[in-house]
Amino acid sequence: MTKPDTLAPAAQAVGPLSAALPPLPQRAIGIDVGGTGIKGGIVNLRKGKLTGERFRIPTPQPATPEAVAGVIAEVLDELLSRDKAPSAEELSVGVTLPGIVIDNVVLSAANIDESWLECDTTELLKDFPGRISTLNDADAAGLAEARYGAGANRPGTIMTVTLGTGVGTALVHDGVLVPNSELGHLEFEGAKPAEAKVSASARERLNMPWPEYGETLRRFLVHVERIQPVSQFIIGGGISKRSEDFLPFVTGLRAEVVPAQLTNNAGIVGAALYAAERARLAAANALGSAE
Ligand code: BGC
Repeated sequence: MTKPDTLAPAAQAVGPLSAALPPLPQRAIGIDVGGTGIKGGIVNLRKGKLTGERFRIPTPQPATPEAVAGVIAEVLDELLSRDKAPSAEELSVGVTLPGIVIDNVVLSAANIDESWLECDTTELLKDFPGRISTLNDADAAGLAEARYGAGANRPGTIMTVTLGTGVGTALVHDGVLVPNSELGHLEFEGAKPAEAKVSASARERLNMPWPEYGETLRRFLVHVERIQPVSQFIIGGGISKRSEDFLPFVTGLRAEVVPAQLTNNAGIVGAALYAAERARLAAANALGSAE
């Protein structure tokens, strides 16, 4: 059997339109805005890996759009001062947020300061260098996992489920992200939303032993699978480091269930890839309409 080439430029060749698109730049920047830290890195888009160290600054409190934008600017300055930084002409920057994001506008704020609701991040970040795209945090992680991590080279429908303060979900079909699935907000066994029972923080709050947590996650995935059948669930979030403690209890699903591979950096990598792809699409559309 030929070994799949996991370093294949998967990011270059995904989706029916990609053949008509110019190649992606070699590098882009990803910034992952979390509840405790804002982390950024320069991403090698061929390998789906960071070039150099990641850079982190604690999330300001309260985490209002203006305060977070100030920290994103500092993270970006540091990354752009490095030798390997993408050049200004081809700079794409992806920024993750833990909420629904459509056309760079934030439409939910379950686990972030509510002043983010309706925030237009194009306006908020308009003085920043490069082409900036904002996306949901789980979508960024799921895109990275599907292209470079546990789902690489795998056709079909893959769902990444991130277990942290909340529960995020990301749906990727044949390498293309269908954003904002938000299945952590389903109603589940009386919990509204499901994340109140299934998140990593719920496990701590409810003092759940690992087998019980694994069993709860199993029932949640069965529920999800009924609504949206997939071929693979990738389990991410910080807790996936402990996957040996709870994934053995997640059995009997139609889909394969595997731990995430890019854990810490999935958000950064996926954000960078998303931004570079959006920029390439915008450039191709601009070219098309000028012809
Ligand atoms: C939010 C999602 C987010 C997830 C993980 C949920 O509460 O609604 O948008 O992806 O938490 O941070």
